[in-house]
Amino acid sequence: MRGKALLILILCGMLCGVFSLAAAADDKIVIGFSMDNLRLERWQHDRDLFVERAKELGAEVLVQSANSDDMLQVAQAENLITQGVDVLVILPHNGKIMGSVVAEAHRNGVPVLAYDRLLLDCDLDCYISFDNVRVGELQAKYLVDRKPEGRYFLLGGSPTDNNAYLVRQGQMNIIQPYVDAGKIKIVGDQWAKDWLPQEAMNIIENALTALNNQIDVIVASNDSTAGGAVQALADQGLDGKVLVSGQDADLAACQRVVEGTQTVTVYKPIRKLAYRAAEVAVAMAKGEPLDTGGVTTHNGMIDVPSILLDPIPVGKDEMMDTVIADGFHKMEDVYKNISKDQWPTP
Ligand code: GAL
Repeated sequence: MRGKALLILILCGMLCGVFSLAAAADDKIVIGFSMDNLRLERWQHDRDLFVERAKELGAEVLVQSANSDDMLQVAQAENLITQGVDVLVILPHNGKIMGSVVAEAHRNGVPVLAYDRLLLDCDLDCYISFDNVRVGELQAKYLVDRKPEGRYFLLGGSPTDNNAYLVRQGQMNIIQPYVDAGKIKIVGDQWAKDWLPQEAMNIIENALTALNNQIDVIVASNDSTAGGAVQALADQGLDGKVLVSGQDADLAACQRVVEGTQTVTVYKPIRKLAYRAAEVAVAMAKGEPLDTGGVTTHNGMIDVPSILLDPIPVGKDEMMDTVIADGFHKMEDVYKNISKDQWPTP
């Protein structure tokens, strides 16, 4: 009998231990990070750097990737709330349909941070991104400075991504005066679903056929779509002859830039975005006041406190002093298809 009582006492002690561990773990901030996808190179960078900084701040991160499926992302985000996260960070596939998630989060006392892409028509707590209008302006300025006259094809990003419209707005801020002056002719304007390279390649293949290859510039809104466009150009022997823009400084895009088949990418120091987002998320979880210096972005319902970081245009001449200097990519990786005697001196 004594043995049995002793065993029960030991088991109770162990159970208390488990509960106290759980309770102690409860003190740890838990961040839920709901991501559109991890397919594209840059989002893998974002995730890794966000988690790295959050851990430095003592927080745990639960990452969920929705593979660009809207309903899956809503379900995953709601599940993170159910799991009791202290703050919810969302990179939406479609910023128009996450309003119900934000409302559910607030009903559970969970603040929401929109990561890189705005959540529309909802009571969003904070938005952090690069200045996407500025991204479009930098892309277009790099192109018109090199080709102020000619036939321009506008290759937009994903129609479900609010950033795609901001980038286009910036592009037209620069291009429209040249169109009005009769210098630039817009020969096409299409949008690539989910920023997929295959979508972009199909669009440009069809455009080249319809226009008898008469395109001088492709205003591509990011690097994955620029890659698809360059593939279509290469099939016609036009790669390196038609100017092409992009953004994200993907490794393949940086290789194209130094090899001359892509004119420019727009580098967005992902470390700055991801680290700052992790810091803001932890502060939100602690209920600390947000100071965005009065910067806001209207999302259709409210003026959302916003943190907008500066993007950087990178062509062949700027590669060393930006992407390489920051360690975002290694020189030997970017210049791997260039003979070493032609590498720039670091
Ligand atoms: C956009 C983002 C771009 C690019 C694109 C592809 O929202 O602003 O930098 O990553 O998504 O997913």
